[in-house]
Amino acid sequence: MIELEHLEKRYKNAVPLADVNAVIHDGEVISIIGPSGTGKSTLIRCIDMLERPTGGKIILDGENICARGYDVTKARRKMGMVFQSFHLFGHLNVIENIMQAQVDILKRSKKEAYETGMKLLQRVGLASKENNYPDELSGGQQQRIAIARTLAMDPEVILFDEPTSALDPTMVGEVQSVIRDLARMDKTMLIVTHEMNFARAICSRVFYMDQGGIYEDGTPEQIFDHPQRDLTKRFVQNLRVLTLTIDGEYFDMAGAGTEIDCYCLQNDIPPRTKYRICLAVEELASHLLRPVLAHAPIRITVEYSGKDGNAEVLAFYGGDKFDPAHSGNGFSYQVLQSTVSSLSYRYDPDADQPNVVKVLI
Ligand SMILES: Nc1ncnc2c1ncn2[C@@H]1O[C@H](COP(=O)(O)OP(=O)(O)OP(=O)(O)O)[C@@H](O)[C@H]1O
Ligand SMILES: [Mg+2]
Repeated sequence: MIELEHLEKRYKNAVPLADVNAVIHDGEVISIIGPSGTGKSTLIRCIDMLERPTGGKIILDGENICARGYDVTKARRKMGMVFQSFHLFGHLNVIENIMQAQVDILKRSKKEAYETGMKLLQRVGLASKENNYPDELSGGQQQRIAIARTLAMDPEVILFDEPTSALDPTMVGEVQSVIRDLARMDKTMLIVTHEMNFARAICSRVFYMDQGGIYEDGTPEQIFDHPQRDLTKRFVQNLRVLTLTIDGEYFDMAGAGTEIDCYCLQNDIPPRTKYRICLAVEELASHLLRPVLAHAPIRITVEYSGKDGNAEVLAFYGGDKFDPAHSGNGFSYQVLQSTVSSLSYRYDPDADQPNVVKVLI
C-alpha cells in the first residue's frame, strides 16, 4: 500500500505538487491524466524517489520513505519505472540489458538472471532478439525490452511515464498489449498516459491532476463519462472534441494533420475513419470554404463516438449565407460527398457563426 500525505514538490519557479493525498491499494491499476505541466511525471518520480519531495509523506507498506535516514534503495527495490524514452544501455545486448541489474543489485547468479530474462522476453514476444543491440530494434520492441527489464527486478509497483508517447503510431498497440497483459497480474501499476481508451480499458481508477494535486479521483466511468468537477469536465470534453481554428488564407494542413493524428490516437480511431476525417477537413478547409476565409475564420470540430464508430465533422463560419455545394468547386464537393455518409448545410441566422456544414463519417 502507498499512502501519500500532503505530498509537496516545489521548484524555484513552479510548484507542481502543492498538496497530494491518496491511498493506493495493492493490485490497483491507476491511470494518471491531466494537462501538460500539472505534475504527473513529478508525482511518479517522487514516488520512485528519483525526485525528493519538499514536504509531506510517502508511506510505502507502513514506512515513510521520505523520512531522514530512510534507505531509499529499499523503496526502489519494490518499484520499477518505465520511461517514455526506454533508457536501454546501448552497449549491452538485449539479454545483457535485462540481466545486469538482476546480477548487480539482486545478486542473482548469471544463470538465474539469464533464465528469468528469457522467460520475460518470451512474455513480451521477443525471445528471438536476445542477442540484438537496442539500436537494431524498433521503438516498440525497445520499449517491450525495457518493460521486461523492469519486470526482471520483481517490483511490487510499476510506474509508467507515458510509455507509448515516443513511439510511432504503428507500434503503440504492441506495447499497450504487453501492459494490458501485466495489468491482469496482481501488480500495483501507476500509468501516466494520454491515451484515454487504453486507460479506460485497463485501469480500475483514474487520477485527474490539476491545480497542484489530484483534482478528481474516480473510476474510469466517473472520470470519462460523468466527471464531477469543472476542470475535469473541460479536460474530458477537450479530449473528445477536437477543435481546429482556421484563420487566414494559408491553411497549414500538415499542422492540422498532426493534431488529427494525435486526436485519433487518444481516441483509438481506426485508420479508415481517420483517413476520412483528414479528407473531410482538407476538402472543407483547403478547397470548399476557401472563398469564405477572406472574411471570417472557420472553426472545425471533430467528434468521434467510440460506441457506434461514427465521427462528426462540423465547420462553422460567419459572413453571408454560403453553402459549399455552390462553391464552384464541384469536384471537391463530389469527392467529399462520395467519401462520407452524409453531408449537409444549414444557416442559423441567430448564431455567432451562422453557417454550419455537417459531415457524418
Ligand atoms: N527539474 C525541474 N526543475 C524545475 N522545474 C521543473 C523540473 N521538473 C519539472 N518542473 C516543472 O514542474 C511542472 C510539472 O512538470 P511535470 O513534468 O511533472 O508535468 P507533467 O504533468 O508530467 O507534464 P507533461 O504532460 O507535459 O509530461 C512544470 O511546470 C515543469 O516545468
Ligand atoms: Mg510528464
